Amino acid sequence: EPGRIVLGIETSCDETGVGLVRLMPDGSVRLLADAVASSVDQHARFGGVVPEIASRAHLEAMAPTARRALEQAGLELSDVDAVAVTAGPGLAGALMVGVAAAKAYAGALGVPLYGVNHLAGHVAVDTLEHGRLPARCLAMLVSGGHTQLLSVAGIADTITQVGSTIDDAAGEAYDKVARLLELPYPGGPPIDSMAREGDAHAIAFPRGLTGPRDARHDFSFSGLKTAVARWVEQARREEREVPVADVCASFQEAVADVLTAKAVRAAGDLDVDTLVISGGVAANSRLAALAADRCAAAGLTLRVPRPRLCTDNGAMIAALGAHVLASGAEPSPPNIPADPGLPV
Ligand code: KG4
Ligand code: ZN
Repeated sequence: EPGRIVLGIETSCDETGVGLVRLMPDGSVRLLADAVASSVDQHARFGGVVPEIASRAHLEAMAPTARRALEQAGLELSDVDAVAVTAGPGLAGALMVGVAAAKAYAGALGVPLYGVNHLAGHVAVDTLEHGRLPARCLAMLVSGGHTQLLSVAGIADTITQVGSTIDDAAGEAYDKVARLLELPYPGGPPIDSMAREGDAHAIAFPRGLTGPRDARHDFSFSGLKTAVARWVEQARREEREVPVADVCASFQEAVADVLTAKAVRAAGDLDVDTLVISGGVAANSRLAALAADRCAAAGLTLRVPRPRLCTDNGAMIAALGAHVLASGAEPSPPNIPADPGLPV
């Protein structure tokens, strides 16, 4: 078969991901393999990712996960034409494991190595699902670590941040609210399912940074989290039974309302006609439904990769690496560092 094989490695947080894609001669990308090993269970009792545990888990999982990806694709390591790796942003020690592995693979194979940006990877992954992106679009990244609006004018090299959270990430708010309701970690899935049984308008929780004088494209979720905590504490103090389903539904409605309203507004300001939503929180059922409604009303095309590709994985890094390779960019130097604070 024609085309070049790109291996992608992702280790920025608690997922060890190795993906394989084929870059076709026409510049399109095809998913060949997506192997992920997660250390999420090892962090559950701490209510959040413990960096030291994550690094150790990456070290153990890296080679077996790469082997699994090659098996899925029916390929040998020697078939790989280029290696891409998340250079940042992320946890320093976790990133270093992936970067070291990528250098070893690329060096041993004598193929180019591309250090790429994790956030851009979350956007690039959508090209595996829905094909080429339009010349310009807006991307909203919503996960445990990030909540950002990105203006995308070229997936390989021209992404600028339009807005971001000034405090907690959207997924972080989910995880913190779940913790205070004594639901398991990560909090998104249990809150999403509890919310189905509740009334989204039972409690009027605040919508952060939505006033006329607030930063137009930034987000804030810590006030919402505090409001939920106060409401629950008061109910407990008054020895009322906490209506967990209503709290979940009302909290979830506030998050989805703010995210979709701000995304649609930013798309209008940037004059683009496509919105891509990615990251773990993109799996949220209410966010998906409200985004579909509001995009339709605003004449926007909505693109959301399937949930498995929305969360951290190696295929997103392979896809981005393939687009960078196709752009003719110079490979990264062999001494590329891991950069925890890498901007887009
Ligand atoms: O992208 P991801 O797997 O990892 C990073 O943080 O980079 O995102 C994980 C986050 C967690 O905070 C989790 O609670 C949230 O995504 N999440 C959800 C749902 N599924 C996962 N949040 C809301 N609704 C969901 N269905
Ligand atoms: Zn991520």
